[in-house]
Amino acid sequence: KKLLSITLLGAALLTGTVQAQEETVRIAVDVPYEPMEYRLPSGELTGFDIELGNALCKEIGIDCEWVVQGWDGIIPGLLSRKYDAIMSSMTINEQRRKQVLFSDPYFMPPSAWFVPAKSDIRTPAKETLEGKSIGVQRGTLQDNYATDMYGDVANIKRYSTAGDMVLDMESNRLDIVFLDFPVGKSTLIDSEEGNYKVVGGMITEPKKYFGDGFGIAFRQRDKELAQKFNDALATLKEKGTYDEIFQKYFGT
Ligand code: ARG
Repeated sequence: KKLLSITLLGAALLTGTVQAQEETVRIAVDVPYEPMEYRLPSGELTGFDIELGNALCKEIGIDCEWVVQGWDGIIPGLLSRKYDAIMSSMTINEQRRKQVLFSDPYFMPPSAWFVPAKSDIRTPAKETLEGKSIGVQRGTLQDNYATDMYGDVANIKRYSTAGDMVLDMESNRLDIVFLDFPVGKSTLIDSEEGNYKVVGGMITEPKKYFGDGFGIAFRQRDKELAQKFNDALATLKEKGTYDEIFQKYFGT
């Protein structure tokens, strides 16, 4: 009888382990942030992060589920276990490292300033932006930088989604927007051909604001899960899968 209960306990533990491995990993993402994460007209999520994230999950052998979450509450939601990871073009920086554990960087784009092609703004110098309205997504590094550098002279308009900000730019309610470069390129330059341009070039410094590339965020204690994603990222780079996805979104 004792042997039987030990056997049952063993079986239960074993099943428990197996189930833990098959558990779904929930990944939070804030949309729209084209071409990184956005919805197709069908409602399906797509973009560089989504495709890379799905490829990583497949490589690891886990089921992943995307959870759409506003940027504002995206770190609190991770810490309160609403989901297990964030893959949403989140830049790795010191401030966030205090709260979350980042994967290795999977993409290193600069930031850039975007203005209408006919704008008289030729540089994002402080004198030039005096009295201008600057669009940023609330809580992004671009918000932090613009607020610290221009907050006393310009009118900083903070949007809860990048989509709303782009709409306001298109209806002339903003003079300039500050965005991760690939997003401004895709949503303003490419989609409205000739109507927008970059001023001030590619911005990557100072590191305190612009950080060390995009990373997947986990809870600090989930080191094993983060390690699985790092290993899978390295494998996808070796296999060429990373390059395929990269070319699809950023290739010329
Ligand atoms: N890279 C910027 C940051 O980390 C903005 C990211 C916004 N992401 C998004 N999916 N809306 O602050």
